[in-house]
Amino acid sequence: MSVAGIRAWAARHAERRRYSPVGIAFHWIMAALVIFQLGWGWYAGRLMAGGDKLHAYEVHSAVGLPILILAIGRLVWRIVIPGPENDADRQGVQTQIAYAIHYIFYLCFFGLPLSGWAMWSSVAEPGPLYLAGVLPWPQLPFHDLPLETRWQIMSAAESVHHVLVLVLFVTVPLHVGAALKHHFWDRHDVLRGMLPEIPDDVDPRPASEHKPRDPGILGT
Ligand code: HEM
Ligand code: HEM
Repeated sequence: MSVAGIRAWAARHAERRRYSPVGIAFHWIMAALVIFQLGWGWYAGRLMAGGDKLHAYEVHSAVGLPILILAIGRLVWRIVIPGPENDADRQGVQTQIAYAIHYIFYLCFFGLPLSGWAMWSSVAEPGPLYLAGVLPWPQLPFHDLPLETRWQIMSAAESVHHVLVLVLFVTVPLHVGAALKHHFWDRHDVLRGMLPEIPDDVDPRPASEHKPRDPGILGT
């Protein structure tokens, strides 16, 4: 399929003010991974030094590295396929903040795995990084550098990782809170456009084309 064909396919979803199924899959897979990483990273950080802690960080890295691969795919997708216009696009300050948070998220999708990778590569023996726990992942080429430089890289990467983690701990609740407010309070179409479409067994047309059901006995 050509790029024009993919764009036309995605535009059919955007016309109905919805993200495409690909955009939706990227969003929810990455949201789940990021939320897991925030919880697991926090838990790993609080374990006593030892085998359990090392294993916890190996799990953390195995789950985190796929985020880097997904981020590349998602960024390309996002550049080629614009998101839909929806009730949240009102050009006010709130819209600008929402867009800024989306940019920050993309920054974190790259910055966290890259800084985590740099941390491992600056101190660990060549070895224990695996993509999703199965595919061996190379170290960055730091092992021939002087020990002092490696420690400086470690410390800089750790600072970047911690700052981005803090940023996410603030912005994710804002983002989730705003999505829920749009949906339940303002009754906007924003969250619906990011949820998978479940066909109705009575009326299989997309939800946006539904006519209200015959109220039947309840309406009388
Ligand atoms: C979006 C992805 C990621 C998120 C949200 C995330 C989140 C976190 C969190 C919450 C902590 C605990 C910080 C603390 O104890 O104060 C942490 C620590 C850490 N993460 Fe990640 N992480 C991600 C990706 C990665 C990746 C891909 C790697 C390795 C390849 C990695 C390696 C580490 C390491 C080594 C630490 C310990 C840092 C320290 O010395 O405190 N992280 N991460
Ligand atoms: C339960 C949690 C979440 C809900 C209910 C939610 C909901 C939404 C909604 C409704 C949108 C569309 C916004 C619009 O078009 O104006 C959106 C976009 C977005 N969300 Fe979430 N989200 C959640 C978690 C997350 C997490 C954890 C992340 C990653 C840190 C994330 C990253 C993004 C990004 C990057 C976009 C922009 C999409 C794009 O155009 O590329 N979301 N989210």
